Amino acid sequence: MKIAFVSSEIYPFAKTGGLADVSHSLPEAISERGFKVISMMPLYKTVDRKKFGIVPTDIEFNVHINNKDYHFKVYKQKNGVKHYFFHNSELFDRDYLYGTPEGDYPDNDIRFGAFSYAVLEFFKITNFFPDVIHTNDWQTALIPVLLKAKYNWNNIGSIHTIHNIAYQGIFDKFAIERLNLGWDLFHMEALEFYDKVNFLKGGIVFSDAVTTVSPTYSREICTPEYGYGLDGVLRKHCHKLFGILNGIDYKVWNPETDPHIYLNYSSENIEKKSENKEIFLKEHNLSDPSKPLFIFIGRFAKQKGIDLIKDSIDDMAKMRANFAILGSGDKLYNDFFNDIKGKYSNIFIEVGYDEPLSRKMYASADFLLMPSLFEPCGLNQMIAMRYGTLVIARKTGGLADTVKDISEPHGYGILFNNPDKGEFIHSLLRGLNLYQDEHTMTGLKRSVMNLDFSWDASASQYIRLYEEIKFSKGV
Ligand code: ADP
Ligand code: GLC
Repeated sequence: MKIAFVSSEIYPFAKTGGLADVSHSLPEAISERGFKVISMMPLYKTVDRKKFGIVPTDIEFNVHINNKDYHFKVYKQKNGVKHYFFHNSELFDRDYLYGTPEGDYPDNDIRFGAFSYAVLEFFKITNFFPDVIHTNDWQTALIPVLLKAKYNWNNIGSIHTIHNIAYQGIFDKFAIERLNLGWDLFHMEALEFYDKVNFLKGGIVFSDAVTTVSPTYSREICTPEYGYGLDGVLRKHCHKLFGILNGIDYKVWNPETDPHIYLNYSSENIEKKSENKEIFLKEHNLSDPSKPLFIFIGRFAKQKGIDLIKDSIDDMAKMRANFAILGSGDKLYNDFFNDIKGKYSNIFIEVGYDEPLSRKMYASADFLLMPSLFEPCGLNQMIAMRYGTLVIARKTGGLADTVKDISEPHGYGILFNNPDKGEFIHSLLRGLNLYQDEHTMTGLKRSVMNLDFSWDASASQYIRLYEEIKFSKGV
């Protein structure tokens, strides 16, 4: 069984969010189980070629779209056979992956359309034909469309994973011409979406199976509230829609070996976690380790419920607690948090992307806040629990599948239902209250560290799906 895994970001080469983590850890888990997996992504300017030993191969070709030739050169890691990187300087030598904080790059249809063609050209040139192509999010959703409607490679199976249905890759209808797709694909049962072209819709319609990253989210996206206009399409294709919970890489996220945290620890010597907290507080000008430390780490986007934090900040400043907030994203939120930096003595704020700092925060915190309006899966909460940090989250998507409220038997987190300020503050107060009971807190921290958020169960589900698809192709 040969799998080609295609993604617009893969950790550690390029990452804007959880897609990169999954694009690293899922292929890894599949190949550890004896399957051949190759992973493919664009080679952006921001990828550190030297650090990762990325070198050119002699594979190069042109993709002819938008009335011109786009030259692609394929790179790989020295001594590596797992990752292939596709380079075109006009399309990918830019400062950001998808756009600046002000907005998306206007030619993203060409950028990711060209990359999608390039992946299929690569198979042709190298004569490496996978049994199943596994694509992810809108950036690679044209691949199943091209596979069936343009290349007619009908014995190659396809799985498309939706990591976030809020991002669909919607372009004006002349993308059909720019990408040589043919107007026969511009109808309701294919790429057309309110007189525009929708990449993700194409991926859903044309792939053999569609997965999303948690069971709850797979049900949510079939409703108008969460489906962002694609709920009808998904209900129509629900026979091939599966919710498979993401895992995290237990080697990448491990408090026993993490080189960035102050002191390594496990559930056996969890008192070292408190020592991490003490050092963190000192380093970031926060006082009194006897107070609980609440953290937020994530993209500053509406999705993450960042408005709840923004609107509650004065209340948080009055609580007998410390807060540390790390994130970046939409300009509105970057500006807000930059403006209030240093204003409150109990709130540390860092606007930016900083993996080492995030690791110190996971290791030091008592509670992680995830008040998301929607959350397809969420990795932050799994990482936090791996580091013995309890989770306060809104009960939605993958958060509902991974966090169990303390009011339930064997519960180990705090959940709230409605994304309003009252419920959010109430859940912070529940956290403060729980924190008073040191014995219970320590027990809960230990028990979340011993939960299993690895890929073990979910990798097997993917393998079953790959096998079923391969079998259905009769090859
Ligand atoms: P999403 O993909 O929606 O952004 P996830 O919870 O799936 O959310 O994944 C987020 C990933 O990105 C986690 O690995 C988290 O630690 C990381 N992350 C998010 N924001 C930052 C940041 N500002 N600095 C460092 N890591 C971050
Ligand atoms: C998306 C989602 C997040 C999920 C991640 C990986 O970015 O927002 O919930 O964990 O993809 O699947």
